[in-house]
Amino acid sequence: MLKPLLFVSAVVLLGFTAMSTPGSISQATAPSAGQKNAAKAAAAEAKAAADKAQARAKEIYGVDCAICHGDNGNGKTDLAKGMELTLQDWSDPKTLADKPDQELFNAIRNGKGKMPAEETGRANDEEVKNLIIYIRNLYKMPPAPAPVPADAPAPPPSN
Ligand code: HEC
Repeated sequence: MLKPLLFVSAVVLLGFTAMSTPGSISQATAPSAGQKNAAKAAAAEAKAAADKAQARAKEIYGVDCAICHGDNGNGKTDLAKGMELTLQDWSDPKTLADKPDQELFNAIRNGKGKMPAEETGRANDEEVKNLIIYIRNLYKMPPAPAPVPADAPAPPPSN
């Protein structure tokens, strides 16, 4: 009674070993080269569109916003001083972190206190949304290129 059972287990074991040989399974499930290229192309297209939208946001920010909020968003501008504006410092990532997009959108679209509204003719809704992404990322911009100490570790590779 035991012998046939052992034989069956041996066959099953052998079968599993054969199935796990490299290449036997992975080939069936891996995406084809064509599928991979299509996914890559779609990702590249999405990135190109996002980059273009951010380039446009930078342009609008430079013309309509930086005069008060500053190129790096810290709000330390001559006009802010002259107008006695109280501006939040966006160069600190914590400042905008817990403000919802809608609150920022409303401030930009409708104006707030001494801040004038951004008219739709100057930035449409899509452009305002991209302005929000832009100002949320301003803290990554250094105020001025800091001198790199000689013994500083190499920066991580950027993709
Ligand atoms: C005339 C100066 C001025 C200009 C130009 C200006 N802002 Fe403001 N902005 C302000 C002031 C002042 C406040 C604070 C309003 C308040 O809380 O009373 C403010 C607040 C904001 C807020 C709300 C969050 C915060 O930090 O208080 C956002 C978002 C904002 N501005 C974005 C923009 C964008 C984007 C532009 C360009 C389209 C812009 N601002 C142009 C003066 C300005």
